[in-house]
Amino acid sequence: MNIVFTGFMGVGKTTVGRQVAKKLGLEFYDTDSEIENFCNMTIPEIFEKFGEKKFREIETQIVEKISQKDGVVISCGGGVVKSETNMNLLKKNGKIVNLYADVDKILKNIGTDVNRPLLKGKDKQEIIDIMAEREKFYQNCDIRIDVTNLSKEDAAQAVINKVKI
Ligand code: S3P
Repeated sequence: MNIVFTGFMGVGKTTVGRQVAKKLGLEFYDTDSEIENFCNMTIPEIFEKFGEKKFREIETQIVEKISQKDGVVISCGGGVVKSETNMNLLKKNGKIVNLYADVDKILKNIGTDVNRPLLKGKDKQEIIDIMAEREKFYQNCDIRIDVTNLSKEDAAQAVINKVKI
């Protein structure tokens, strides 16, 4: 069984996922990093050169590959949940954890990071709208944890407490 992290951009999936993997002595994978390695390009470059549709195709190929592993921690890009194919692949062999936080925490975490093409030039209200659009997908996850007021360390412990594998 894998532990799969989902959640909105900037919520802390990669940092918390890494800590959970470390604490449990499991291997860690990050779909965005796998995509970047596969394409030998950064996420913004992939969006710019190929567009979002192609990015999503590559993302599904990567999900297909990583979901075959067993007993690993997988941190997914925030949009992985939008594809039923992705979620069916990940659910077969994984507990799906959703981390969520309020918009102010997300904005604080994102700071001046320019590596998220979908948030480029977006104001707070536009980000709230994207979060609302995503909510129905995140509601389908097995475990949901509000990390608004949790440190990364406490969030990792909360995940471990809830995921019994
Ligand atoms: C995306 C989230 C990003 C990355 C891409 C698209 C999304 O990952 O996959 O920019 O659609 O939410 P993070 O959630 O790790 O920022």
